[in-house]
Amino acid sequence: MSMHDQESALRAAFDAHGQGHVFRHFGSLSPAAREAFLAQLAEVDLPLVARLIAGGGEAKTDMSTLEPAPCIALGAAPAAARDRGETLLRAGKVAAFTVAGGQGTRLGWKGPKGTYPATVVTGRPLFRVFAEQIAAAEKRYGCAIPWYIMTSPLNDADTHAFFRDNNWFGRNPTDTFLFPQGTMPSITFDGKLILESPGSLAVNPDGHGGALRAIHSSGALEDMKARGIEQVSYFQVDNPLVRIADPVFLGLHASDDGSSGEMSSKMVAKRDAAEKVGVFCRAGGKTVVVEYSDMPAELTNAVDAHGRLRFNAGSIAIHAISVAFLDRLTSGDFALPFHRAKKKVPYWCDDRRAIVEPTEPNAIKFEAFVFDALALTRTSLVMETARTEEFAPIKNASGDDSPASSHQIQSNRHAGWLERHGVKVARRPNGDADARIEIFPETALEADDLADATLPPAIAAGSELVL
Ligand code: UD1
Repeated sequence: MSMHDQESALRAAFDAHGQGHVFRHFGSLSPAAREAFLAQLAEVDLPLVARLIAGGGEAKTDMSTLEPAPCIALGAAPAAARDRGETLLRAGKVAAFTVAGGQGTRLGWKGPKGTYPATVVTGRPLFRVFAEQIAAAEKRYGCAIPWYIMTSPLNDADTHAFFRDNNWFGRNPTDTFLFPQGTMPSITFDGKLILESPGSLAVNPDGHGGALRAIHSSGALEDMKARGIEQVSYFQVDNPLVRIADPVFLGLHASDDGSSGEMSSKMVAKRDAAEKVGVFCRAGGKTVVVEYSDMPAELTNAVDAHGRLRFNAGSIAIHAISVAFLDRLTSGDFALPFHRAKKKVPYWCDDRRAIVEPTEPNAIKFEAFVFDALALTRTSLVMETARTEEFAPIKNASGDDSPASSHQIQSNRHAGWLERHGVKVARRPNGDADARIEIFPETALEADDLADATLPPAIAAGSELVL
């Protein structure tokens, strides 16, 4: 199609949807800018945008019928689960999958979050931490674990550059598959698309739920199938303690004794009612995650007869997902619902001929959440894990879920591992390790791996240890 024909078709489509205003500066754009703008407009799913403006296609959970989700308690997974998971790993049927498309605004880090120096002593960046863990698992199980990483159009080039500059962390580049997620246009409160410059729309990454669309359109899913991958170990880029391809979890998930093996999740007991984590609940006969911001306060704070939080199963955003389920989700006429959030979106002001940064929310952003796929499983299970073992996210610059809190949890985990082998570790009155302790995945993926290591008899208060 010629550029002229494409322009006519797009003008007609945008006019028909009441969005023709986006062309108002088209005449003043250079030929190259016109071409880029038309390419961006062609990506917009106008019928979907129209449905969302009309209030359809949105995530809705009936809060009045919510019940806590059943969970497999800490340590209750049968021994056979581990064997099953290890068999899958040895057979090369497991891939790792990281969602890394977020903008890390709260942390204030300029660059993809995976490049953030996360570890306690050596400050290894998150991507390196994951790469080393995957390498250690590959060595242990004598297999390849291909790694799929979803970036966003905003950080894709920087993420590629980081991997290249770090020589792909020693991995075979063909076993590491980076692909950007899609975007969704922001709209004003009265349902109009927004220009962020005369020749571009204001768009945002379409949420980690966009992974389902992107995994398909990028060819990542086909790549998984071609490699014979059956299960995907899904995790977020912000958690340096994630146990990637955990054999116990994978084996539990992939069992055929009542669970579907489609999508399973890990949870930790919530720290307190206010903790900003999604919560596993039962709704409409399915296990779902209700995001903290959507949960009514009376449910967030509800306690049982023993005074414990009734909705206590905090999501740490770690899932096992089967390739067959991904295939089912991405092949039919299927779409995850969208969540809407009021945000401050910079826009082009015709009068001032400049971009304006609003001081109050002026627009609605739409994002899909991957955990909404849980409601589409036949059944799904939730496994409890220990917070200290697996959850030390880095989200905020200070306070909870910050680099400082993550470092403390990382040291606490490693102190616990050492203590199990007789090492005396200095602890503070509140139980925190009083030393900075980092253990490389190559040394140990879990406490038992230290059995043959040469360990010091004690770790003094204020000291540092790298193993
Ligand atoms: C998220 C979960 C929350 C969970 C918590 C655990 C959501 C909406 N909430 O909260 O239920 O308890 O983690 O730590 O996910 N991302 C993309 N593309 C996007 C947006 C995000 O890849 O368009 C990625 C980010 O890079 C990050 C992850 O998704 O790895 C989580 O994003 P974020 O929006 O920061 O969620 P949280 O509020 O941390």
